[in-house]
Amino acid sequence: MSLILIIHLIALGIWIGVVGAEAAIEFDGMNDDESYIRASKLHYITDIWVEIPAFTTVLASGMLMVNESHLSGVFLYKIIFALLAIMFNLICVYAVFKRRKCAISSDLVGMKSAETVMKVGGLIIPTFLVAFVLAFYLAW
Ligand code: HEM
Repeated sequence: MSLILIIHLIALGIWIGVVGAEAAIEFDGMNDDESYIRASKLHYITDIWVEIPAFTTVLASGMLMVNESHLSGVFLYKIIFALLAIMFNLICVYAVFKRRKCAISSDLVGMKSAETVMKVGGLIIPTFLVAFVLAFYLAW
């Protein structure tokens, strides 16, 4: 297994892990307004320090490995769904940044409006799962 593939897979594992951690943060934020504001700030920090570096590494390492043989058949679908997952993750990041800006000034109405954008970003889950299943189907 090449070093770049190892990096791809480690970054993938970190990405999955942080999405799980962020789901836990969001659940905790449902308790009351104060925890909602705290969750918004925490989610922002995990995005900056873990999630963005993780999916950027998955993308960069994946791009470095791509050759002509990957651009047809099932592998091409894996790449398309992986790119969609990254795009929806970017939409989530945008919503998290917007929500955090409102959280700093305790603007709960503004925070709630960012949730609508975040729902669109929620499409990361199905697109990621399709890419994941296709990738492991190909590996076996
Ligand atoms: C949802 C995101 C992704 C998942 C779940 C994922 C999963 C995987 C897995 C499990 C492997 C190992 C497969 C094997 O050893 O046969 C792999 C390899 C690879 N991935 Fe990804 N990946 C993702 C994103 C990407 C992206 C965005 C690209 C390209 C832009 C990419 C390109 C590649 C390439 C070229 C390989 C090497 C295949 C080979 O060794 O021939 N991946 N990926």
